[in-house]
Amino acid sequence: MKLIIAFIRPEVLQDVKLKLYAQELYSMSITNVLGAGQQRGYTEAYRGVQTEVNLLKKLRLEIGVPDDQVDKAIAAITEAARSGQAGDGVIFVLDTVRTYRIRTGEPI
Ligand SMILES: Nc1ncnc2c1ncn2[C@@H]1O[C@H](COP(=O)(O)OP(=O)(O)OP(=O)(O)O)[C@@H](O)[C@H]1O
Ligand SMILES: [Mg+2]
Repeated sequence: MKLIIAFIRPEVLQDVKLKLYAQELYSMSITNVLGAGQQRGYTEAYRGVQTEVNLLKKLRLEIGVPDDQVDKAIAAITEAARSGQAGDGVIFVLDTVRTYRIRTGEPI
């Protein structure tokens, strides 16, 4: 079992979900985050003062998948989340040590 953690633009969520569903991947957790990549940020007026804003609203998507389904999950996320512009996000794939289904206690 691997844990995929992806940071994506909020506006691509629906498309990412549909692409994952098409691969029969339904389980996921999503949180709102603020993030920065290598962009220098932009300036915006806040209470009349020009302020550099470099933390942008992103979504953190976490998906636990069997090892043999990692590649199709990555492909689904990438296809749906890529605009080609800076800020499209990043995908991390982590090894898990142990995973259990709480309802039954069984390893998954
Ligand atoms: N190394 C990282 N660690 C944690 N989060 C990251 C990392 N890189 C990117 N992110 C997340 O992904 C979001 C988008 O960053 P991204 O890397 O796409 O932007 P960029 O560096 O400006 O562009 P690009 O990498 O396409 O040149 C960030 O706002 C952040 O939430
Ligand atoms: Mg980057």
